[in-house]
Amino acid sequence: MRSQWSLPAILMATSTLALAPPIGPTFNDFLRFSCSELNIQRIDPLVTPGLIPSPHLHQFVGGNALAPTMDVGAQNLTSTCTTCTFTEDRSNYWTAVLFFRARNGSFHRVPLMGNSGLEAQRGGMTVYYTAPYDKKTKVTAFKPGFRMLIGDPSLRTPSPIKAERESIAFRCFTTPWGPAPPNSGIGDPKWDTREFPKEPCPYGLRVNNFFPTCWEGVNVDSPDHKSHVAYPIEGSFETEGRCPDSHPVRLPQILYEAIWNTSAFNDKALWPVDGSQPFIFSMGDETGYGWHGDYLFNWEGDALQRAMDRYCGVDCPELKKQTIEQANKCSKAVVAREGIDGWLDAMPGNPKMGR
Ligand SMILES: *[C@@H]1O[C@H](CO)[C@@H](O)[C@H](O)[C@H]1NC(C)=O
Ligand SMILES: *[C@@H]1O[C@H](CO)[C@@H](O)[C@H](O)[C@H]1NC(C)=O
Ligand SMILES: *[C@@H]1O[C@H](CO)[C@@H](O)[C@H](O)[C@H]1NC(C)=O
Repeated sequence: MRSQWSLPAILMATSTLALAPPIGPTFNDFLRFSCSELNIQRIDPLVTPGLIPSPHLHQFVGGNALAPTMDVGAQNLTSTCTTCTFTEDRSNYWTAVLFFRARNGSFHRVPLMGNSGLEAQRGGMTVYYTAPYDKKTKVTAFKPGFRMLIGDPSLRTPSPIKAERESIAFRCFTTPWGPAPPNSGIGDPKWDTREFPKEPCPYGLRVNNFFPTCWEGVNVDSPDHKSHVAYPIEGSFETEGRCPDSHPVRLPQILYEAIWNTSAFNDKALWPVDGSQPFIFSMGDETGYGWHGDYLFNWEGDALQRAMDRYCGVDCPELKKQTIEQANKCSKAVVAREGIDGWLDAMPGNPKMGR
């Protein structure tokens, strides 16, 4: 089980204090920061550069240089602002968008909400950068122009690749930020699922995805936007899991935490009569297995490397910070214009629905 938050397995195995409560990592063990909404539209600078509109809707956060085409292999520091906390981070982060389909067949986009402690953010998501918890193992920050994709929008069944399957998890908030404490393992089957939950989530639905942490060391992209990176071959990243020989360079671990505010969609009278669940990702995915996240690195200079070398947490003296209110003011005009709000007869792009 991959778990950002649980006691590293290696410590558990060697601990002689079996009865002591597990001491999980704290918010000072990694960068954890808010990224408000930049915009929501049908573009995809990674997978379908230049295409307006792209096949399905994405929600974007980060630097306002975001455009349908972002030059491959080049760093783009033309952003004048970012929706993220650290102002030297003009990267872009994006994911699919969640919709609700009511019993009558109409669709409504589900809004995103801020995380615990980051409630003031406008939409968007939480982004994490982690170095191994031993605070000795070094990571190498991404190179200019680096980009990657996690997940596969066409999947409607569990990914055949174990590491990828285990890197995505859904948590249905049945209590505020619950049912489990926030520092409980992501992906633990006691409370997380790998597909959409079957019941309403009155306090929101969280989706996590961990990106691969091993790099082949030369190319900042690959034709499938995946094969230049890999997951550790044994153990977990947090416990210094070993990278494959083909991908020996250890990267910071990026985690996205998107929290969909499902609270307006809890009325079971609006749910399908056949008892199936009503949530659908923007590419027509009724299962949740098609969840995907895209990353386009754009940190200024060596800011990220310095933060990782210091094993920085939220209070990172290495990095320049703005308030969430300032971050909320950054946005970027939409180029792929279409109606995405209110009740819709079809989802943008009218994707093929499927389980
Ligand atoms: C940077 O982004 C802008 C759009 O915001 C684009 O016009 C420019 O070509 C990009 N430059 C590079 C080097 O990618
Ligand atoms: C479908 O149901 C929703 C929720 O009750 C309602 O707001 C919407 O107007 C309905 N759509 C149509 C086409 O009747
Ligand atoms: C979630 O949505 C509900 C109902 O639409 C709204 O009242 C509430 O303020 C939202 N919560 C957050 C944290 O955005």
